[in-house]
Formats: sequence, structure tokens, C-alpha cells
Amino acid sequence: MSLEVLDRYRPFLDEHTRVATDPQLMGGPAASRYETMRFCFEHFLERGGRTIVELGTIRSFVHGGLPGCNSDDPSLFDPKRPDTWDWGAGCFSLMAAACLAEAGPRIHTVDIVPAHIERCRVITAEYAELFEYHVADSVEFLRSLQAGSVDLVYLDTGDMWPIEPSARHQLREAKAIKRARVVADDGLILIDDVRNATPVRNGETSLLGKSKYSLPYLTGRGRFEVVLGGYQLVLGRRARRTASDHY
Ligand SMILES: C[S@@+](CC[C@H](N)C(=O)[O-])C[C@H]1O[C@@H](n2cnc3c(N)ncnc32)[C@H](O)[C@@H]1O
Repeated sequence: MSLEVLDRYRPFLDEHTRVATDPQLMGGPAASRYETMRFCFEHFLERGGRTIVELGTIRSFVHGGLPGCNSDDPSLFDPKRPDTWDWGAGCFSLMAAACLAEAGPRIHTVDIVPAHIERCRVITAEYAELFEYHVADSVEFLRSLQAGSVDLVYLDTGDMWPIEPSARHQLREAKAIKRARVVADDGLILIDDVRNATPVRNGETSLLGKSKYSLPYLTGRGRFEVVLGGYQLVLGRRARRTASDHY
């Protein structure tokens, strides 16, 4: 992989992670999206991964501090000005494509809003041959997948406020992942925005953001475990019990 590519974008990932969280409110500092994305991309390459699914696509040509955030005007996207990109939302599938292009992954990006998919097409145009763009509800999409067919699932639908609909939807996604056994045995789930401070600033008591229901589910009945924590969480399948565990 071109880890140098991710290194090039690191200042943006680090800075926009830093401003999205608040160590005092969220119980301490949280590792940057850079760390968790890097872990997932390295893992993907090491095990010869093929398929990535992003739930909730890249929807803005520019970040929230600039005029035109969430506008449909494609001229707002400047491929040569990464400082203008929407790092606050993560730019996940663009980073996956840029870093893993040489390995030729299949990247499915899914969004319920057609205009958001159109924007993602523009933003990821350079890597279009790697992508399949889906206008769909994320849960319906997950239900359509074959068991074990995904090496890396990125959970990022919905907004940080109001948090309740996003958190409830992420639980439905988690249940669909478990029921359809979507993730390959040594695949990973990456959850964005777990340490985002917006819900807590608005009075939410959980420190898990959109994952407040999905995380207990995935680490309980879902049989996953957290393998790396930070602003985002990385989950892998819980190690199978051996016979000796029963004694
Ligand atoms: C925070 S943005 C995703 C950001 C993107 N992953 C990135 O890294 O830049 C959340 C997206 O979730 C989408 N969304 C909301 N509900 C959805 C649903 N039920 N199914 C699919 N997408 C949904 C929204 O339309 C929005 O584009």
C-alpha cells in the first residue's frame, strides 16, 4: 500500500479529528482517524482483502468551514486542494481508494440520498474503476450481501445530532451485519465518530455517539471485539473459544 499517501493526508485527518472531539468531555484524548484507517488498510493488504463497504458516502465537495458545504455544484471540488475537502466527515472511501489503489479493491459506497452519491462520484472520479456506487438504504444493502463477502465495513450513516435516529439506525446495521454474516472471518468493522463530542455537548449522556446501541450489540451477541480504539473504533471477530475455556 501507499502508506505515504495516507501520511501525506495525515495533517488533515489529525486536525479534523482533534476539533471533532473534546478530551475533557469525552474522558481523554482520542487517537486520530489516521491511526485507525492505517490499521485497517494495512490489515486489508496483509490478508489480501478484496472488498470494502462504506455505509454513508462522502457527501460534500468542501468542509464545513467553507461556503458551499453540502452543495450540488461540482465545481466546488478541487482535487488539487485537499485543504478544502470535507475532512470533518472523514473522506473515508477517497482515502481507501488512494491508499489501496494498487491492490485493486472493490469499494462499494452506499447512500440513501441520490445527490450524495453523485457528489461522491465527482470526488472519487480518479478512482472510479474501483468503485460501485449504490443509492440504497444501508440496512437493505447489507441484507443483499453474501456471507463473508466483505473484508472491511465502514459504519458512517447519519448525523451526529440528533443522535438518537443515527444510533438506532447503526444498531439496525449491526444486526444486519451479524444476521447475514457479512464480514469475512478475519475482516474488520470500522466505526466513525465514536468520540465525537457533539452529542455530549447537546446533553447526551453516552460517550459512544452513534455506537451507543451498536457497540454493546456487536461486542455481545455480535461476537466481535474492539481491536483498536480512538476517535474511531476497529472491531474484529472475537477469538473462537477453545475447549479449555470451558474448564
Ligand atoms: C457523515 S455522512 C458520511 C461521510 C463519509 N463516510 C465520509 O467519510 O466522508 C453520513 C451519510 O449517511 C447517509 N445516510 C443517512 N441515512 C442513511 C441510510 N439509512 N442509508 C444509507 N445512507 C444513509 C446520509 O445521506 C449522509 O450522506
